[in-house]
Amino acid sequence: MQRGDAPVVVDDFVTGDRARLAGVPSYDLDLSSAEAAGHLEAIMRSERIEAVIHFAARKQVAESVQKPLWYFSQNIGGLATVLDAMSRVNVRSIVFSSSAAVYGDADGVVGEDAPTDPVNPYGQSKLAGEWLVADVARASELRAISLRYFNVAGSGWPDLADRAVLNLVPMVFERLDADEGPEIFGDDYGTPDGTCVRDFVHVLDVAEAHLVALAALPSQHALHRVYNVGTGTGASVREVVEGIRRRSSDAPDAVVRPRRVGDPASVVADVRRIDEELGWRARFTLDDILDAAWSSRRRA
Ligand SMILES: NC(=O)c1ccc[n+]([C@@H]2O[C@H](COP(=O)([O-])OP(=O)(O)OC[C@H]3O[C@@H](n4cnc5c(N)ncnc54)[C@H](O)[C@@H]3O)[C@@H](O)[C@H]2O)c1
Repeated sequence: MQRGDAPVVVDDFVTGDRARLAGVPSYDLDLSSAEAAGHLEAIMRSERIEAVIHFAARKQVAESVQKPLWYFSQNIGGLATVLDAMSRVNVRSIVFSSSAAVYGDADGVVGEDAPTDPVNPYGQSKLAGEWLVADVARASELRAISLRYFNVAGSGWPDLADRAVLNLVPMVFERLDADEGPEIFGDDYGTPDGTCVRDFVHVLDVAEAHLVALAALPSQHALHRVYNVGTGTGASVREVVEGIRRRSSDAPDAVVRPRRVGDPASVVADVRRIDEELGWRARFTLDDILDAAWSSRRRA
C-alpha cells in the first residue's frame, strides 16, 4: 500500500486476524471449499486483480503428521483453487509461499538445487505446491516464483506480534511469560556453541522479497523460478535465546533439554541466486529481528 498498490486479502481467518487489516479490503473464504473457485473468480474480476501472492496455508508440522489428508486438501486444494480462478480471469503472475521445509533434513548451507526431500506432510505439501505451480505455468501463460522462506522472525510493526507459538522466538516469549527458563534442545551438536544453527530472516525482508518477485514476474523468462529467502548467515539457538534474555530485566536462565528427533545441526540459506537474479538481499540483522520481536511482545 505504501508504494501505491491496492492489495485485496482473501483468507478464512482461521489463524489470520481481520483486525490487522485496517483499510485493506478482505474476503472471508476457505480456499479449499468446493465452491471457492467460483467465489474467487468473482472477487478477482470485481477487484481487477493483476497478480497473486499465495500465502494461505496450514503450517503446523505436528498437526500435518496427524492429519495428512487435511493438509493436502487445504494446502494443495487451496492452491488449485487459486490457480483455477487465476486462469479463468487470465491473471498471469503468482508468488507462492514455499519453505525451507522442502529440503527436509538437509544440513549446512543449502542452495536451491539441493535435493528436496521433505520429511513431513507440511513440507511435502509445499513441494507439491511448487510442482503444481510449475505444471500450470507449463500449460498456460502463467509466470511463477516460489519463495522458500527460512526462519521468519521479528515483526513489521510493534502491533503485529507473531502470536503462533510455533517458532523459536514466540516459544522463548511463552516461557518467559510463564517465568520459566527458555528451552534449548541439545547443546552437543557440532556447531560453534553446540546448539542448532538456523537462518533467521526478518519478516520485513521477507515482505520486500515478495515485492521484488512480483516486479520481476512479467518479464521472467523461466516459467517457474525458485528462490531461497534467508540472510545467508546462521545464528545459533543459544544466540537467539541469550539475545532475548538480554532484552529482559529478569529472565530465568535457559534450560538445556535433550536433542529433539529430526533437528539438523545447521541449516542456512545459500542466497546468491535471489541476489544475482532479483537484486534482493536481507537488510536486517539478528539484533534488528530481536528488537522488533521484543517491542511487539510488549504490545501483544
Ligand atoms: N512463518 C514462517 O516461518 C514460514 C516459513 C516458511 C513458509 N511459510 C509459509 O508462509 C505462508 C504464511 O505463513 P504465516 O507464518 O504468515 O502463517 P499464518 O498462519 O499467519 O498465515 C496463513 C494464513 O492463511 C490462512 N489460510 C490457511 N488456510 C486457508 C484456506 N484453506 N483458505 C483461506 N485461508 C487460509 C490463515 O487464516 C492465515 O491467515 C504459509 O504458506 C506458510 O507455509 C511460513
